[in-house]
Amino acid sequence: MTEGRIAVVTGASSGIGRAVASAFTRQGIHVLAAGRSGDRLAAVQAELAGRPGTVVPHSGDMTHAAYTEELLAAAEREWGPATIFVASAGQGLPGTVLGSDANRWEELIEANYLAILRQLRATASEFKKHAEADGGRQVRDIVVIGSTVGRQISAANPVYGSTKFAVHSLVEALRQEVCTHNIRVTLIEPGFVRSGFQEAAGYDMEWFEAVAEQSGPLLVPEDVASVIDFVVSRPTHVHLDDIRLRPTRQKV
Ligand SMILES: NC(=O)c1ccc[n+]([C@@H]2O[C@H](COP(=O)([O-])OP(=O)(O)OC[C@H]3O[C@@H](n4cnc5c(N)ncnc54)[C@H](OP(=O)(O)O)[C@@H]3O)[C@@H](O)[C@H]2O)c1
Repeated sequence: MTEGRIAVVTGASSGIGRAVASAFTRQGIHVLAAGRSGDRLAAVQAELAGRPGTVVPHSGDMTHAAYTEELLAAAEREWGPATIFVASAGQGLPGTVLGSDANRWEELIEANYLAILRQLRATASEFKKHAEADGGRQVRDIVVIGSTVGRQISAANPVYGSTKFAVHSLVEALRQEVCTHNIRVTLIEPGFVRSGFQEAAGYDMEWFEAVAEQSGPLLVPEDVASVIDFVVSRPTHVHLDDIRLRPTRQKV
């Protein structure tokens, strides 16, 4: 069902995106692995060499306007048109409305909201064009990583959370717009995942370890990746469109 499909995976240099690249290549899906760090993408390519699906790294910053078009074109040059796009790249921001660093708000909104909006538009336009050409016989998947804090308001993390609320609404709206073309637009809402995310965002790691102590074992990126792998391998007429997964012991 999935073998030979072609995927673009953003945020593939770390965490959930990296685990998705690993799960996909095991199934024979070819992966254009995107992120800013060329070195880390090269390490992912080396680690996954010899799998049924191949990895080609493509470094770049997702806040650049033509980012998605470049990724889709690179995948097409390599193997042909992509039929899976996983938007995993994202950033965190610690702090409350009063306590967060206001100098980082614009960067966060640019990366977590505007860049995702551009990715959704560019990918859905491309997928719709191909679906019109093949009558939607081939299913196409756009998978976006939201968050439990994009569903339930978090007083501790509202600035980051609000970018995820916005993304959740875009995903459902786009799902309604393109579903008749057999394009599945899927939202994945993880709770706490132990990845590079907390350190990259500058979260207080003592606080994070206390959370892990209270609510853990936390999810690992492979837990989320296995769900995404399951979603894209469903038959064309089946769409698991919105999945929330948490560590079992996480209350909110
Ligand atoms: N970890 C959690 O607890 C958790 C929970 C719910 C949702 N999420 C969401 O899950 C997604 C993946 O997070 P993760 O946990 O896998 O974190 P991660 O390990 O920090 O991975 C984030 C990825 O995003 C890429 N990235 C960040 N800014 C970028 C930019 N401007 N341009 C291109 N790539 C960029 C990073 O690559 P480079 O640094 O190489 O660019 C990295 O590959 C995010 O959307 C996050 O909001 C995470």
